Amino acid sequence: MSESTIASDGEVAELAADVVAEPTPAGASAEARCPFHGAGPVAAPIPTPDVAAGPKTMVLTGASRGIGHATVRLFAESGWRIITCSRQPFNRDRCPWEEGPDDHVQVDLNDHRALALAIHDIKARLAGRPLNALINNAGISPKSDDGGRLSSLTTPVATWMEVYNVNFLAPVLLARGLFDELKAGQGTVVNVTSIVGSRVHPFAGTAYATSKAALACLTREMAHDLAPHGIRVNAIAPGEIKTDILSPETEERLAPLIPMRRVGSPMEVAKVLFFLCSDSASYVTGEEIHINGGQTL
Ligand SMILES: NC(=O)c1ccc[n+]([C@@H]2O[C@H](COP(=O)([O-])OP(=O)(O)OC[C@H]3O[C@@H](n4cnc5c(N)ncnc54)[C@H](OP(=O)(O)O)[C@@H]3O)[C@@H](O)[C@H]2O)c1
Repeated sequence: MSESTIASDGEVAELAADVVAEPTPAGASAEARCPFHGAGPVAAPIPTPDVAAGPKTMVLTGASRGIGHATVRLFAESGWRIITCSRQPFNRDRCPWEEGPDDHVQVDLNDHRALALAIHDIKARLAGRPLNALINNAGISPKSDDGGRLSSLTTPVATWMEVYNVNFLAPVLLARGLFDELKAGQGTVVNVTSIVGSRVHPFAGTAYATSKAALACLTREMAHDLAPHGIRVNAIAPGEIKTDILSPETEERLAPLIPMRRVGSPMEVAKVLFFLCSDSASYVTGEEIHINGGQTL
């Protein structure tokens, strides 16, 4: 893991301070006058209770590397407890967070029976405590045997099923299974979609792209269904982010075409996840935030 993908303690503290409390402008008071309407007093910004309320808890799928890995680092350094889920057992060398082994659930999201057991396991670990966030981050983007793009003409049926189980079905089953805990925490769900959900991509296959488009649609549907229960549901759609999921030639071929002339880092994605899970986003639901250096402009 390179230094550049993980925020320093200072950066994390700065970010946490930004999202925890919007500062009152110098000299402003609770009786400050609205500069546009003049007449009545406007309330001073109220510090959000992120810190005062104590540690928050999140369930995060796909934490062992890439975007999920950076997300654990950022949230853990800001005091969150994170229950992680992925196929591999916890690896202390790769994941140096303290509570990691105790809060890791080993599960293959392609197997919905195993997922039911994992939800049971997560509930046991929560032990009646509320859940503040569920981040459906795990995803797969299979290629052909020679590393090529799998199109609608070439994707095997088994691959369609696997991609939809992991990228689409697991998020809705997790959210449904953990509904009571999310409701108790007035929590938030964030689904990780992709830039390829809305445009054809040179490397990402058809099953992957359509699963992400379906996940974006599911985000709207779930936001609608869960909002009356106090649960917000949003999505983030990364562009080209430097992780193992990228094809080897992605950075070289696509970076020159991106207006910002570079691919993104996992930490740049984690920071947007942090915003969506904070009280700063308390009235944001049903949205898909694009993180792509201007690639779709
Ligand atoms: N990187 C990008 O450019 C990019 C762009 C757009 C969207 N995204 C999306 O962002 C998310 C994270 O991507 P990433 O680039 O960080 O991917 P990554 O580096 O390949 O990591 C994928 C994570 O998902 C877990 N995972 C994969 N299959 C699983 C399964 N069947 N059951 C449980 N866990 C599973 C992996 O852990 P195990 O191997 O231990 O299971 C790993 O932790 C994905 O949803 C991806 O589609 C990424």
